[in-house]
Amino acid sequence: MMCRLCCIPDLSLIQTVLFIYDFWVIGISNLYAWRCPTGTVLVPFFNKNLSKKHLDIGVGTGYFLAHDDLKEDNQVTLVDLNKNSLEAANGRIGKKGKYDSISLCYLLHCMLGPSEEKVPLFANVKRNLSKRGVLLGSTILGQGVSHNWFGQRLINAYNKKGLFGNVMDSRRVFEDSLRENFGDVECRVEGAVLLFEARRPRRDSSGGRTTFQTS
Ligand SMILES: C[S@@+](CC[C@H](N)C(=O)[O-])C[C@H]1O[C@@H](n2cnc3c(N)ncnc32)[C@H](O)[C@@H]1O
Repeated sequence: MMCRLCCIPDLSLIQTVLFIYDFWVIGISNLYAWRCPTGTVLVPFFNKNLSKKHLDIGVGTGYFLAHDDLKEDNQVTLVDLNKNSLEAANGRIGKKGKYDSISLCYLLHCMLGPSEEKVPLFANVKRNLSKRGVLLGSTILGQGVSHNWFGQRLINAYNKKGLFGNVMDSRRVFEDSLRENFGDVECRVEGAVLLFEARRPRRDSSGGRTTFQTS
């Protein structure tokens, strides 16, 4: 399911959409609705975990990558359901191999369906993570956090329109699944947002192939 909040319909509109997305989601909503400020929480969290070989799943407009001091030898692979998001973020897709960091930032709350149907994503992405790599992510929760008036209005409207699918998303279901798949998991809640870091991917007992869940 594509996130229409950051879907870019036409490349000629990129500048406008980037401006609107950055203003509304990255600026206003993060600070006042989700109470998880971009500048002091999300950007440092992302930068701390970014490695030289990074896979960004659900890259959107590429805001966080654009706000990191990427060097020429950084290898960044971008994955998104939305082709125009990839072009806006100037991505390279299809790169193979293991990554030292993989991000799932603001992706899980955009996926529709029960939380239990989202968590197989962790098992899928861990197969693409190097032994010393880190899976990092952030997602707006619908359960177990207190939403303020603004946040509750947004969450109701976005779920009704199918932009978000997070009414039943709780820290527990994501953290339990991360612990099943990784030996070292750190989770914290900032405002209404779960931030997670997972290291030491557990070996897959099924030994299955890498398959990304795309919807
Ligand atoms: C809310 S944006 C997040 C953008 C960015 N990661 C951030 O933190 O600002 C979610 C992005 O995930 C993409 N997306 C949604 N479902 C996806 C899926 N199943 N697989 C890959 N990308 C997906 C959307 O197209 C959108 O670009």
